[in-house]
This record gives sequence, structure tokens and C-alpha cells, in this order.
Amino acid sequence: MSLADFIGMPDGAGPVSPGIHRPPVLRLQNITKTFGGAKALCGVSLTVKAGSVHGLLGRNGSGKSTLVKILAGFHEPDEGGGTPLQR
Ligand SMILES: Nc1ncnc2c1ncn2[C@@H]1O[C@H](COP(=O)(O)OP(=O)(O)O)[C@@H](O)[C@H]1O
Ligand SMILES: [Mg+2]
Repeated sequence: MSLADFIGMPDGAGPVSPGIHRPPVLRLQNITKTFGGAKALCGVSLTVKAGSVHGLLGRNGSGKSTLVKILAGFHEPDEGGGTPLQR
């Protein structure tokens, strides 16, 4: 599967400029995840539109992997939710 297929970019479409309307393919709202006493994620919300490319930056331990694991269905969030990845 190509990256374009994975993120839902239509055939022949180039990268999407900010502000161009495309429907969201992923929407997360108010995600919280705690491991024991460690709060890995606190109220994370994210909307991703078809054809857009995002980076996820943060220092070590800031919750990047936990967020991706929730997106992938590996972890369940304690609170919050969203739409699954759709093609
Ligand atoms: N399976 C786990 N069990 C316990 N604590 C975890 C687990 N996964 C992540 N954590 C904790 O959650 C926090 C965020 O970790 P992580 O998502 O791996 O951050 P990053 O990927 O940004 O470095 C850290 O405090 C980490 O120790
Ligand atoms: Mg990580």
C-alpha cells in the first residue's frame, strides 16, 4: 500500500495545501491514557484531512508512541474516542 493510499489521497492528487477542504479521515477527541501513575496523554484532540501529511513531535516520554498505538488499536484510551482510520 502506498502512502497516498494509506492516507486516503485520491488518484492523481498532489499534496493538499492548508485550507483546501477535504473531508476528515480521522478525528480524535479528548484522548486520555494513564499507565499506573503516569499520565501518558491528557486531552489530546486531532483531526486529519484526506491527503494531508502531519508530523508528531515531542520529547522522549511525551506520549507520541502511545497516541499512535491508540490510533492503531493496540491500546484503548481511558477517556475520549474518535473515528477509526478509514480509506
Ligand atoms: N506499556 C506501558 N506501560 C507503562 N507505561 C508506559 C507504557 N507505554 C508508555 N508508558 C509511559 O507513558 C509515557 C509516554 O510514553 P511514550 O508514548 O512511549 O512516549 P514517546 O513515544 O513520546 O517517547 C511515558 O511516561 C512512558 O513511560
Ligand atoms: Mg516513542
